[in-house]
Amino acid sequence: MSIDLLLAIESSCDETAAAVVESRRLRVLSNVIATQIPIHARFGGVVPEIASRNHLTAISEVVDKALRDARCGLDDVDAVAVTQGPGLAGCLLVGVQFAKALAWGRGLPLIPVDHIEAHCFAVRLTDAEGAGSEQPDMPFVALAVSGGHTSLYRVEGPGQMRRLGQTLDDAAGEAFDKIAKMMGLPYPGGVEIDRLSRSGDPAAASLPRPMLHKGLDFSFSGLKTAVRYALTDGTAPAPADLAASAQEAIVECLVVKALRACKAEGLTDLVVAGGVACNARLREVLSQRASALGVKAWLTPPRYCTDNAAMIGGLAAATRDTALRGAQLLAADIYTTRRPRRS
Ligand code: KG4
Ligand code: ZN
Repeated sequence: MSIDLLLAIESSCDETAAAVVESRRLRVLSNVIATQIPIHARFGGVVPEIASRNHLTAISEVVDKALRDARCGLDDVDAVAVTQGPGLAGCLLVGVQFAKALAWGRGLPLIPVDHIEAHCFAVRLTDAEGAGSEQPDMPFVALAVSGGHTSLYRVEGPGQMRRLGQTLDDAAGEAFDKIAKMMGLPYPGGVEIDRLSRSGDPAAASLPRPMLHKGLDFSFSGLKTAVRYALTDGTAPAPADLAASAQEAIVECLVVKALRACKAEGLTDLVVAGGVACNARLREVLSQRASALGVKAWLTPPRYCTDNAAMIGGLAAATRDTALRGAQLLAADIYTTRRPRRS
């Protein structure tokens, strides 16, 4: 079966997103994101039940807009792709059921997609603004760094990823968000710390870099605790300096481990993906240190770093042949959604 236009849906956390992707060129024709950040900001983090209810009210309009922006209709779509996990159960359920109903109603194949794997391949998306004009060679090392995950993978191709390391406690994004919350900064904290750090001194506070010298796993909970102590015992520097120091510690851990993974695997392409990959200091330090070691850092364009449906469509397009054979599906039941034949 040939699929040319894919409609993709993402609802794993607090963004309701839909996109239309042309599968042959992994070309993003539309990418619509309805963010719930203002709704959750007053709670200082995502409230899962509120998030799922808001997905429910937003999803129809978001999908309509994705089709309108791509100047196409449901009749032009050949398959539906949806995030099947990982994510918040109630939130995923909304996207999966919506996609399932749409696919069933239209007699279209439904392709379930792994959210983290989709982050790792988002760098391959192409668009009118020039994304994806160059592509990393496979295999590559991927650093997936988001609010829920911090992992390193050896990526041979779509559906072929081997995890090399992961966080043993908090994800890097969670560390950014929790440190920001302790400092009284608004949610989501990663963006605020990034902004505030620009006027701060990264050497102002001496903060730990847990597990820096060994292995490919990460740990950020000790850093979080160190910031808490500094704030409660009055030794913390000015907010911009504390933000810059905490950011530097997180960035240092991410960069050192990612480059260590490249060396251990003998690979010279390093893809950085996920919401934290928007961080300006991470992008700067990683590019500099990678090039000094002969490694090419592939920084996912920020518009495809934070949660979006284009990356879901992109991976579904890249894996469609295998996916349509049903070989690697974890949720075979949602895949086999075909309209029953009328006799
Ligand atoms: O990938 P993502 O949108 O959602 C998950 O799959 O988790 O990542 C969200 C995370 C949040 O923790 C947010 O604070 C962080 O990405 N983030 C940043 C920046 N932009 C988003 N962290 C540091 N610097 C940024 N500029
Ligand atoms: Zn994500």
